[in-house]
Amino acid sequence: MNTTDAQPAGENGAATPLFTAQGVSKTYGHVKALMDVDFEVRPNEVVGLLGDNGAGKSTLIKILSGVVSPDEGTFLRLGDPIDIGSRRKSEAAGIQTIYQDIALVRSMSIMRNIFAGREPLRALGFLRMREMRETAMDILDKYVQIAGITSPDLLVEELSGGQAQAVAIARAVHFKRDILLLDEPTSALSIRETEKVLAIMRDLADSGVSCVFVTHNLYHAFRVCDRFAIMAHGQNVKSVPKSETTLGELTDIIMTH
Ligand SMILES: Nc1ncnc2c1ncn2[C@@H]1O[C@H](COP(=O)(O)OP(=O)(O)OP(=O)(O)O)[C@@H](O)[C@H]1O
Ligand SMILES: [Mg+2]
Repeated sequence: MNTTDAQPAGENGAATPLFTAQGVSKTYGHVKALMDVDFEVRPNEVVGLLGDNGAGKSTLIKILSGVVSPDEGTFLRLGDPIDIGSRRKSEAAGIQTIYQDIALVRSMSIMRNIFAGREPLRALGFLRMREMRETAMDILDKYVQIAGITSPDLLVEELSGGQAQAVAIARAVHFKRDILLLDEPTSALSIRETEKVLAIMRDLADSGVSCVFVTHNLYHAFRVCDRFAIMAHGQNVKSVPKSETTLGELTDIIMTH
């Protein structure tokens, strides 16, 4: 078996993980937010990161996205150690994060948000507006067929939560991240928008962008995830493929820890 490239995750999950976090710990004052946590993301999967309030899910997501530094922890990409100690380094390692209040600039257009900070420039520093507009339209047509996004010139402040998320997803897709972290992306969305975001996650995973889906909605998790990583009180509880568990069992595990 070729061990240098990502292999599609088999039933037994024996593929080289796309990304591995080992022994991650983080303390805030007296609160042990994470204690020796292991977590991995495999190729072509949606992994549900589950656990009750305060389990440490968001802390782990923030560490993986480079905005919080862990006290301890080792990180590997395809088996090789990597540094994810800043947002830029985390992005360079292929990770893009979508928070509920996504880091989009609300007063700027969809197009400018997709390219934010990475705009293609001409000599003298002029932006390649036409190129950006065409690329933005292309991404929006391909990946973001969410109702109401009719033009890349719409301002993000005019968008709904789900539409804004779709823009953030488009940004991740355009810059070819292959790991998308989504921390409670559907908690404030309408049914229609939620369905769209779930479908986008599934499509992305199937096309090579693995997704980490943090949610309290086990029905949503069960529909879209290939595997579940359950945490409680800052620790790992269990990692289980969907084929080996049930909605009832997941609920029990979370309720009893
Ligand atoms: N910036 C911070 N300062 C102090 N304590 C924090 C901070 N961030 C998180 N914590 C604490 O760390 C623990 C884990 O919090 P975290 O936000 O990671 O949980 P979570 O699993 O995302 O919970 P929820 O489902 O409620 O979003 C909690 O006890 C929380 O109070
Ligand atoms: Mg959280």
